[in-house]
Amino acid sequence: MRKARHMDGWPRRRVLQAGGLALAGMVAGNPWRSAAQGGLPPTPQCDGGKGQATPRQTAGPFYTPNTPKRASLLEAGTKGTPIVVTGLVLNTRCEPIAGALLDFWQTDADGVYDNQGYTMRGHQFADAKGQYRLETIMPGVYPGRTRHIHVKVQAPHGRVLTTQLYFPNEAQNRRDGIYDERLEVAMLPSSAAEPVARFDFVLKV
Ligand SMILES: [Fe+2]
Repeated sequence: MRKARHMDGWPRRRVLQAGGLALAGMVAGNPWRSAAQGGLPPTPQCDGGKGQATPRQTAGPFYTPNTPKRASLLEAGTKGTPIVVTGLVLNTRCEPIAGALLDFWQTDADGVYDNQGYTMRGHQFADAKGQYRLETIMPGVYPGRTRHIHVKVQAPHGRVLTTQLYFPNEAQNRRDGIYDERLEVAMLPSSAAEPVARFDFVLKV
């Protein structure tokens, strides 16, 4: 695996050991707070601490290291349907991992990767409650693949989890040999202008 500079030597961060913060710790203004209060079940990735880590998937050929640090991949002139992807980074005991690194990359709305620059690429760190929030667009589709977002997730000093996220009700999911329903985001009721998707990553740490 190619090493990204920002995955080496980033500051030691204390991993929160406060069990039960995962859902109870949601704060006002969080985009999926209202949905969770309305009875949204915990994501299957971390239901009751059964210890199911998020499945790994191939990075594919289009990862570029040393991405810019930014929570929004939207730039002036970005075309496509805006979407927010948000959730938690947890360990297999369902405890939040503060400061976890998330490095996202995806195609533009036309299904094209930027392999020269950093369009639709960026990394961020989960906050003290293990929460992340990505502002992006719905990725396009390209031949042979259903709609997906690539991501690398890493607890401080932990092993890198490389995987992909998928969207529900995509006709091409069934025809994509890499697609895994366990990696589907949950689309949340949202009063915001853009759709909000939730996915919680569970890392073995
Ligand atoms: Fe891809």
